[in-house]
Amino acid sequence: MRLLVTGGAGYVGSVVAARLVEAGHEVTVLDDLSTGHEDAVPPGARFVRASITEAHDVLADKDAVLHFAARSLVGESVEKPGLYWANNLGGTLALLDAMRAQGVGSIVFSSTAATYGEPERSPILETDPTRPTNPYGASKLAVDTALSAYADISGLGAVSLRYFNVAGAYGRFRERHTIETHLIPNVLKVATGERESVKVFGTDYATPDGTCVRDYIHVQDLATAHLLALEAATPGEHKIYNLGSGTGFSVQEVVSVCREVTGHAIPAEVGPRRAGDPAVLVASSEKIRRELGWKPEKAELSRMVEDAWGALSGKSG
Ligand code: UFG
Repeated sequence: MRLLVTGGAGYVGSVVAARLVEAGHEVTVLDDLSTGHEDAVPPGARFVRASITEAHDVLADKDAVLHFAARSLVGESVEKPGLYWANNLGGTLALLDAMRAQGVGSIVFSSTAATYGEPERSPILETDPTRPTNPYGASKLAVDTALSAYADISGLGAVSLRYFNVAGAYGRFRERHTIETHLIPNVLKVATGERESVKVFGTDYATPDGTCVRDYIHVQDLATAHLLALEAATPGEHKIYNLGSGTGFSVQEVVSVCREVTGHAIPAEVGPRRAGDPAVLVASSEKIRRELGWKPEKAELSRMVEDAWGALSGKSG
């Protein structure tokens, strides 16, 4: 297929773009490089440096869009909500209208666990209430709502994938944010010597060891889900799937696994809770397993940390 991958110079987008090229698709990456890196665009993909509001011409001959381009920092979204509404919702609406004008009928969208907010139960099902607690989650939920409307009115075939905590790497394609807020890359920065210690945000949660529990999914398993979602896009339907591994790991467990994988002592300091962190976020991924036959192949946290560490320390191929 002829595919447009928005945000294909970012972490998840670059991994999926690489997998699509390997699968024989004709891939164009559209990215404004506001947070992405041009050298993350995989060889074999065409690169267009532009915003998602400027996608009209590049959509002319495309069969489908995989839409990753977005602002994705929860804390920043609380400080600058306008940026999140304008980029994530406004930008996506412009993209959807350009797709409609050019007759592009399918989209796979990067949604998020943040659409659910503080969960009432665990694991979270797709039918659970969506009550985002920050503008990031709210802007992504608004796009999900828009996708349902576009499916109804214009026959768009849409699939939203609600990611939980993405980790790991694919060869050299890895997470490298200028402002790093995520746990695993920050812990590994201690092992590389870039940081002296990791701060554990809160040890007084109602969890077995008092630290927050998250559901980590390997970026390669996430990429596989995108290839399945692309095939599953059906005109006039909007499908929504959670994507995690179904198992929760606490912050302390993540730090322990990073110590084992890197052989580094990784000193940890206890700090106060980070505002807005739910105690436990674990996905039920039963729906995508059942409907699309998805199965994680690297569900062990150690595999994710090994691959992230390998890419960071240049040991990957
Ligand atoms: N944490 C630390 N120290 C750090 C970084 C994180 O203790 O230096 C803790 C956090 O407080 C949290 C856990 O590690 O309890 C995981 O934090 P991340 O920042 O790695 O990930 P989040 O669970 O906050 O974020 C993820 C996605 C977001 C999404 C959110 C949904 O990365 O895109 O889940 O709530 F919005």
